[in-house]
Amino acid sequence: MTTRVYHGRQKIVKDKSILFLIILFLITGCHSDFPSKNKNTYAIIPEPLSLVQKDGSFTFSEKSKIIVSELNSETKPAADFLAQLIKNPTGLNISVEQGKKGKSGSVFMSLDPSIENVEGYALEITPKIITVRANTAIGLFYAVQTLRQLLPVEVENEKIVEGIKLSVPACEIKDEPQFKYRGMHLDVGRHFFPVASIKRYIDMIALHKMNTFHWHLTEDQGWRIEIKKYPKLTTIGAVRKETIVGTGSEERLVFDGKPYGGFYTQEEVKDIVAYAKSRFVTIIPEIEMPGHSLAALTAYPEFSCTGGPFEVGTKWGVFPDVYCAGKEATFKFIEDVLTEVIDLFPGTYFHIGGDECPKDRWQKCPDCQKRIKNEGLKDEKELQSYFISRIERFLISKNRKLIGWDEILEGGLAPEATVMSWRGTEGGIEAARQKHHVIMSPYNDVYLYIYQCEPEGEPLAAGGYLPLEKVYAFNPVPSVLNEAEQKYILGLEGCLWSEFVDNPDLLEYMVYPRMFAIAETGWTRASKKDFNSYLSRLDIVKERYDAIGINYFKGEYRNTRAIK
Ligand code: ACM
Ligand code: ZN
Repeated sequence: MTTRVYHGRQKIVKDKSILFLIILFLITGCHSDFPSKNKNTYAIIPEPLSLVQKDGSFTFSEKSKIIVSELNSETKPAADFLAQLIKNPTGLNISVEQGKKGKSGSVFMSLDPSIENVEGYALEITPKIITVRANTAIGLFYAVQTLRQLLPVEVENEKIVEGIKLSVPACEIKDEPQFKYRGMHLDVGRHFFPVASIKRYIDMIALHKMNTFHWHLTEDQGWRIEIKKYPKLTTIGAVRKETIVGTGSEERLVFDGKPYGGFYTQEEVKDIVAYAKSRFVTIIPEIEMPGHSLAALTAYPEFSCTGGPFEVGTKWGVFPDVYCAGKEATFKFIEDVLTEVIDLFPGTYFHIGGDECPKDRWQKCPDCQKRIKNEGLKDEKELQSYFISRIERFLISKNRKLIGWDEILEGGLAPEATVMSWRGTEGGIEAARQKHHVIMSPYNDVYLYIYQCEPEGEPLAAGGYLPLEKVYAFNPVPSVLNEAEQKYILGLEGCLWSEFVDNPDLLEYMVYPRMFAIAETGWTRASKKDFNSYLSRLDIVKERYDAIGINYFKGEYRNTRAIK
């Protein structure tokens, strides 16, 4: 029996039997007969904490069962996911049963408090049995995602594949995430993405053991979620009369002249939330305030400083008209909206935006100035802080925690706010020093609407240069923080802003595989991260992406500018 700790591609040359096959392959030069099994079959993204290869493999059969020690509504989705995965290409109906012991030919899943990390798991595959242990159901699910990446890519087929044999190579894996928060954001305000593409996005999040989908639901250019109490948010706020062509930085602006709109009904939102839950992904809704609110103010101009009228945004950027922080009616409106949204999303966190809020209107508005005076505030920055802190109190009363972009630091942080640091890592550093939780999403490292290679011949994207290698290199824990401060960094999130991303295919092209690098940074210890190992695994996992049918970027992954 050969037993070794897997590290990158070294395994291929260390394993004598594979070396023999490689030599045979080179001698015969026979491409078509070279069995795909002899490729690196342990390519997993994100890289597990430890993986010990063993000889042999386990094969699923009509006798296989999934036996779960505590079968309940929490654990069942993890077991069901595996059963469905096996069923799709084979037609086998693998039963999911409660039981205290494993059986030969089966998968045995149990909850084990000795696994310390709440998302961690231990996976042992022998030719006889697969054993999965985890502290919680989410760990069981992550073990299933690892198993999935060990299964042949045909498993991704949703139709029967004749003669398919579903085997996984024997091994022992111990695994747990580096960071608690591993998220992906999506802006559906600038462009709307249908329910099916949101579900595919969630699928990719889950496959790579990320746990959060941050759904940016409102923007100047469109309000995208049905609110029953304020129907004009979608009848008026979800539609813009036209859209700018190009970046909008040109001297003479050109518009396409075509109305553009879309929104999610509450029923669709419920369906997506349930879909995410079954994949152990929590959705954080974002309702932007006080800025980026032009679409809402077009529908309800009475909540602005000037009273309007307005037009849903047709170009990109930052608009001066924002919610009036002086009028009580504004807060009543926002609280009503938040109440409906909170009822749809069971997760603890709620994102309120807070970024890019110009203060021009507040400076001239008698209501806002009166608020500043009555509350003893110093200036409009403190008025913004008043606004956010007031909303935080409301969210806390509903058992929710507030997240905001790093501008919420200005004028003083709301007492329990979590900061999403996007303008760099500085906001995150400042927040951690103030003992506030932080999620790192710096523009230069994880904004996936930026060009991922040299721009020539590429679809229009945001200026800058963010190749896969650069995304991979990002470390969300700034070394300037001391150990106690570093503990406030919950993790990281990749962002996809959609100004230039107007269809699901392009979304996938911009996001993948850069998102999978973010997933590895979120999961794998910094000391174990290695871009060459990542690239060699990506080379193999790509076949799975092809089988799933995602439109990932296939150009240059390395940072070629760095070596010029
Ligand atoms: C942001 O990119 N304005 C958060
Ligand atoms: Zn005002």
